[in-house]
Amino acid sequence: MKFRTLGPEGLTVSAVGLGCMGMSQGYGDADDTESITAVHRAVDLGVTFLDTAMSYGSGHNEELLGRALAGRRDQVVLATKFGIVRGEDGVRVDARPERVRAYCEASLARLGIDRIDLYYLHRVDPDVPIEETVGAMAELVEEGKVRYLGLSEASPDELERAAATHPISAAQYEWSLWWRDIEDDVVPTARRLGIGLVPYSPLGRGFLTGALTTGTIGASDFRRNDPRFQGENLKRNEELVAEVRRLAAEHDATPAQLVLAWLLAQGDDVVPIPGTRRADRIAENAGASEIVLTEADLARLEAVLPRDAWSGDRQSFAAYRTARPSR
Ligand SMILES: NC(=O)c1ccc[n+]([C@@H]2O[C@H](COP(=O)([O-])OP(=O)(O)OC[C@H]3O[C@@H](n4cnc5c(N)ncnc54)[C@H](OP(=O)(O)O)[C@@H]3O)[C@@H](O)[C@H]2O)c1
Repeated sequence: MKFRTLGPEGLTVSAVGLGCMGMSQGYGDADDTESITAVHRAVDLGVTFLDTAMSYGSGHNEELLGRALAGRRDQVVLATKFGIVRGEDGVRVDARPERVRAYCEASLARLGIDRIDLYYLHRVDPDVPIEETVGAMAELVEEGKVRYLGLSEASPDELERAAATHPISAAQYEWSLWWRDIEDDVVPTARRLGIGLVPYSPLGRGFLTGALTTGTIGASDFRRNDPRFQGENLKRNEELVAEVRRLAAEHDATPAQLVLAWLLAQGDDVVPIPGTRRADRIAENAGASEIVLTEADLARLEAVLPRDAWSGDRQSFAAYRTARPSR
């Protein structure tokens, strides 16, 4: 496995990480035993940048990782997030500075560790200036509870303000061949500030692998409400995935490997975190780091799969911003 450095403080991670969300929510049933086997396979293959969040399965995902990493903690770079609260009353954002320490301590307890390698703000709280949230996160660094700080879905302005408060090592955004909005403003801003980029849902929530049978998506699956997976959008996107398959074959790669290699080719500061519950897919996804795409390959991808060819908006996160807890 190759390694990459994220951010101005030298956080070194495997060039391809592992997203663990699907082991607890979002994409159908998961089996803890199989998930733990997948984590072990990842660590054995050098895929040591693991991504979780306090909200994934309302704590289940962090507990699962804690179990999976018993005795292996030192072999991984563990990233978790706070700020999205999943409760019986729905999903809300809470990044009030006075709550940050308690969220961190709860994550540490669930993970069974005494320090988080990379601690992300999962969503900027619309009611809290980002400087205040990041200021509270910086205290955790000073106390030794956290090594590096990250943000998720922050605007360019929020990146600037956060980085002026404390060095930010990584910022997560949805980024893949079919969702490229951040290339306009976020990517240039992050690069100017020296912040590493961590594309989430880099396989287009599984769609870009060509292996997804959309007809079997269950009622609780996140993709059920995503316009890209519906009606005419879906039909058009399926035609494009056929092109992904064809181009991948030209590179002796799988579609998953090609779309990950495309992200890796966007810059040395890019580290995708494909998600899988299956041990047998870990090596395939990790193999993307061996595929080198030339400028000519990238130009051909751009010509065959231009950014605006894909159809449908992504599912909105707006709801997270409206349901507020009473203060
Ligand atoms: N910051 C944020 O707001 C945010 C939001 C979403 C996700 N994330 C993080 O990003 C990670 C990755 O994103 P994601 O899980 O949403 O989407 P993704 O990585 O684009 O796709 C995951 C889906 O692809 C399937 N898959 C994985 N490898 C495959 C392969 N080689 N061939 C065929 N299918 C494959 C998985 O199914 P199987 O499990 O059956 O393999 C799963 O359904 C998450 O796990 C999470 O840690 C962060």
